[in-house]
Amino acid sequence: MKIQADVNIGLVGHVDHGKTTLTKALSGVWTDTHSEETKRGISIRLGYADIVFRKCPECVEPLAYTTLEECPHCGAKTEVLRKISFVDAPGHETLMATMLSGAAIMDGAVLVIAANEYCPQPQTKEHLMALDVIGVKDIIIVQNKIDIVSKERAIKSYNEIKEFVKGTNAENAPIIPVSAQQGANIDVLIESIEKLIKTPERDANKPSKMYVARSFDINKPGSGPDKLQGGVIGGSLVEGTLKIGDKIEIKPGIINKKDKNDWVSLTSEIIGLNAGGKEVEEVGPGGLIGIATKLDPSLTKADSLSGSVAGKPGTLPDVLHNINMKPHLLERVVGVKDETDVVPIKLKEPLMINCGTTTTIGVITEVKKTVTASLKLPVCADVGDRVALSRRVGARWRLIGYGIIQ
Ligand code: GTP
Repeated sequence: MKIQADVNIGLVGHVDHGKTTLTKALSGVWTDTHSEETKRGISIRLGYADIVFRKCPECVEPLAYTTLEECPHCGAKTEVLRKISFVDAPGHETLMATMLSGAAIMDGAVLVIAANEYCPQPQTKEHLMALDVIGVKDIIIVQNKIDIVSKERAIKSYNEIKEFVKGTNAENAPIIPVSAQQGANIDVLIESIEKLIKTPERDANKPSKMYVARSFDINKPGSGPDKLQGGVIGGSLVEGTLKIGDKIEIKPGIINKKDKNDWVSLTSEIIGLNAGGKEVEEVGPGGLIGIATKLDPSLTKADSLSGSVAGKPGTLPDVLHNINMKPHLLERVVGVKDETDVVPIKLKEPLMINCGTTTTIGVITEVKKTVTASLKLPVCADVGDRVALSRRVGARWRLIGYGIIQ
């Protein structure tokens, strides 16, 4: 069977609506694996799980859809449809930046809405808007926790959802009632994902480009120099292929200690590749991958390279310290109880800018038909790339729209 996932699907939605439980219902994998998360009980960093969708050749739809090798209804051996990488984005409102970086690597999304709460909750709205801004169009809505609501509340919740998605890119999204906790209606959800969220066509001949979402030092504290392993980066290859032995460049890289405005890209060699939890020789686009390098692990520890772009040396976009962009602003600030109008971008104001998997702050230095921002952390991006723009409202960054790099 193909080891690498074919498609990345984001799980988004308000805090505690059941994204992690749904991933578990689909796969048996718990994505909350980081200790800090377990303590706080929320998904802080993007968690992910690769899940294989299968179909029973004997049973009728939707019963035929499963993730089990043996059909739970008739016992027949099931056939593999495709492998999906689920990216579990955090629902906590302060973690919007992580959500936006996750959206950069999502081909489609499942929006989880709990039936026992009024819809929309602030982050239900903000996440749907984020999907819109980042350009994720294929969306399926899961109406979760159906096991703890009455029939009347389930219908009311359905109507609230229908009303909420009117005029958005999820207007025609199917709404699937599910109990993630009880594993109910998961087959219908799988069928819906199979039919709606297509595997994107990717050109493996293009220069390779990986969005780095995580980076690690995998050594145990106190490991001797002879046992030390090189730095590891994780993320998604959106174009091209990479194989063991390839040289790799990571941009923007690290700050030049002598000149804070100068960044030095990192180059290394790929000494190991991991896709879908298995060691592989070569990777292509689709799914989330891990790359072992010969880099000094202190350069990759604690997600220090998350937000970078990696690829073959000399092929990556330029590193930009200033970006000029055409802004497209939302009408209202979403994600807050009292929604206010989005006022035009002002000179000297700081904005949070998400570009690919990078989060940076940009101070506006020029406002004409286009606006220019001077970036605190540079980005590695092409003309035509889309960036998400957030403004500080009260104590938080709120999504206000997007810009297209000119
Ligand atoms: P964050 O990652 O923090 O944004 O939360 P989440 O959306 O991943 O929610 P999570 O899966 O952690 O679920 C929150 C709580 O709701 C947990 O106590 C789950 O057991 C419960 N829960 C999730 N799905 C269901 C469901 O279908 N029915 C019931 N009754 N409870 C559920």
